[in-house]
Amino acid sequence: MFQSNLLKDKVILITGGGTGLGKSMALGFSKLGAKLVLCGRREDMLKEVSHEIKKGGGEVFYKTCDVRKMDEVEALINAAFEHFGKIDGLINNAAGNFLCPTEYLSPNGFDAVVKIVLYGSFNCTQALGKQWIERGVGGRILNMCTTYAWTGSAFVVPSVCAKAGVLAMTRSLAVEWGKYNIRLNAIAPGPFPTEQAWANLMPPGFEQKMMHKNPTQRTGKHEELVNLATYLMSDGAGYINGDCITIDGGEWLQGAGEFNGLLDLTAEDWMNMKIKAEANRKK
Ligand code: HXC
Ligand code: NAP
Repeated sequence: MFQSNLLKDKVILITGGGTGLGKSMALGFSKLGAKLVLCGRREDMLKEVSHEIKKGGGEVFYKTCDVRKMDEVEALINAAFEHFGKIDGLINNAAGNFLCPTEYLSPNGFDAVVKIVLYGSFNCTQALGKQWIERGVGGRILNMCTTYAWTGSAFVVPSVCAKAGVLAMTRSLAVEWGKYNIRLNAIAPGPFPTEQAWANLMPPGFEQKMMHKNPTQRTGKHEELVNLATYLMSDGAGYINGDCITIDGGEWLQGAGEFNGLLDLTAEDWMNMKIKAEANRKK
């Protein structure tokens, strides 16, 4: 759906680029000419994706980095500038999450998720933003959000708080840094099967329940998310700033609409309702 050189020579840093959606974006961007910088805590994952990118003729640089630690983030960004001479874009994709009734959460459990998602996104954004401002070059940032950043959700309160913070940061800095030609946007994906999300967030039978409340009755395909991310990272999206684009098949809206529960009514139910309504009107 895109010209094969759409991202030619754009250097894009993806945190958590060794697995899941981060990996899919890395491979997709590389096919369109981007040069990738990948980070995460596990080297073997990064190595594997880098190998795949190189096999396809792409360019990649990876370094282990814990996004919770500002010194490691700064070291990563300096090393990437040294390697490629520039960085054009950042995807704050690294995340942690687990299901837990909030009354059982330990302080460390709350910290574990908030520090990766909110502090990690802030650390990468600020460290790179400072460099862009100092160098007088622009940049683009895409934050991986969730629809529960605005709806809230039971059993994932640390992630809810962190993603809501990331969304607020996206909107705030889109305004504050617009004058530096730095634009920030977010994506709010619905369910996209990845090894980690499915292992940690899908108790038996839950996927089926989720599909039932999704108008498309399916999960997302990685290439659909990669297409959206590609567009938002491309020059063609230069006037989109501070937005969060939902890609969930309409899932959160179906959950929100007052009468959406009536989707389960049969044709016979509707006929009976019509007869009743007509009878009421004649009274
Ligand atoms: C309760 C838990 C827990 C759980 C960890 N903790 N898992 N508490 N229930 N299931 C607590 C620990 O007991 C500990 O607190 C603290 O958290 C830190 O745990 P560690 O294992 O030492 O920390 P760390 O290695 O830093 O990371 C933990 C982690 C990480 C955040 C759970 O392993 C992780 O994120 N894994 C899964 C990644 C994932 O789910 N990715 C998909 C994201 S999808 P104490 O007090 O004992 O020291 C997504 C959106 C989904 O985000 C949208 C819908 C589909
Ligand atoms: P994933 O495979 O678990 O990816 C998370 C990545 O983050 C991993 O590669 C992990 O690598 C890295 N990471 C975790 N902690 C880190 C840290 N402290 N420092 C550096 N890297 C760290 O998850 P995913 O399903 O692809 O999700 C990707 C993004 O999309 C996340 O932001 C998630 O919240 C969002 N999202 C996903 C879905 C979905 O359905 N999959 C839905 C909505 C939103 P290491 O463990 O090696 O560090």
